[in-house]
Amino acid sequence: MYPILECRKITYSYPLQHSPSLQNINLMLEQGKVYGILGANGSGKTTLCSLLRGFMPKFYQGTITGEVLLKGRPIAEYGGQLVKEIGYVFQNPFTQLSGVKDTVFEEVAYGLENMGVPADDIEAAVIQAMENTNIRDLALKHPRQLSGGQLQRTALASALVQNPDILILDEPTSQLDPQETSNVFHIIKKLKEQNKTIIIAEHKTDWIAEYVDEVVLLEKGRVYDKGNKTRILSNPELEEIGIMPPQVTLLCQKLRESGIPIITLPTTYAQTKTVLEKLLFPIVEKR
Ligand SMILES: Nc1ncnc2c1ncn2[C@@H]1O[C@H](COP(=O)(O)OP(=O)(O)OP(=O)(O)O)[C@@H](O)[C@H]1O
Ligand SMILES: [Mg+2]
Repeated sequence: MYPILECRKITYSYPLQHSPSLQNINLMLEQGKVYGILGANGSGKTTLCSLLRGFMPKFYQGTITGEVLLKGRPIAEYGGQLVKEIGYVFQNPFTQLSGVKDTVFEEVAYGLENMGVPADDIEAAVIQAMENTNIRDLALKHPRQLSGGQLQRTALASALVQNPDILILDEPTSQLDPQETSNVFHIIKKLKEQNKTIIIAEHKTDWIAEYVDEVVLLEKGRVYDKGNKTRILSNPELEEIGIMPPQVTLLCQKLRESGIPIITLPTTYAQTKTVLEKLLFPIVEKR
């Protein structure tokens, strides 16, 4: 499969910073896959998300070496067209608000209006995005009167409504309750079925284990590991670099420490069920 987004030897420093926030990043992201970006606070998740969205060096400035390619072309070449290609949800959803709209409905419609989409098409798309993110009942509320979780879902709706090929979500569930977190991951699953590429920075490894295809693990601005999510999420070093493994992995780690023979640590509920079934009901070999 060809990479839809690619980082080649990227090293990036914010303005006036002596040490780079990202160092020697090489990534090939394939179309139709869901990528989870993991890392402790300050490891560079937001910086990587911003870089993949093409915010450096134009928006954040600073110094950058290497290149980011979108569909094989340098990302800088896309200019204003980039907004059609990549949807983005900021870590702080307040940042996403246009500040010029008086209702949630208008806020979600704002991006499409800017693209010159006809009004009838806008209405249908906005209603759909609001339904998907469970904010239809907020349609007439002022965006500044929203709770953190409502704001976060509005930000997600604003990104979804434009139907981009790529979505970059920077901790989109940080302020959501378990039900809404689950809802967001179900949306991600549906988008994957539509062959969208999704990049999600997230601390909640239980959800990452269940829903992503591959993981990019950052530590102090470098790629510590990338690829197979089960291998990465069951790595015993995970906690040492500031990441809480999935609950089921922790449980099985404890069981293993107390002498129960679990060879491969599971990271999902399905894997855990298989592991426990094998322990509880070992196959009796026929003579
Ligand atoms: N605008 C900025 N100017 C200067 N340094 C910055 C800026 N934004 C981030 N940094 C620095 O870059 C490094 C990576 O920060 P980043 O926000 O990407 O981390 P993160 O993994 O997203 O953390 P968190 O989990 O807290 O969101 C940190 O050392 C941070 O202090
Ligand atoms: Mg961040």
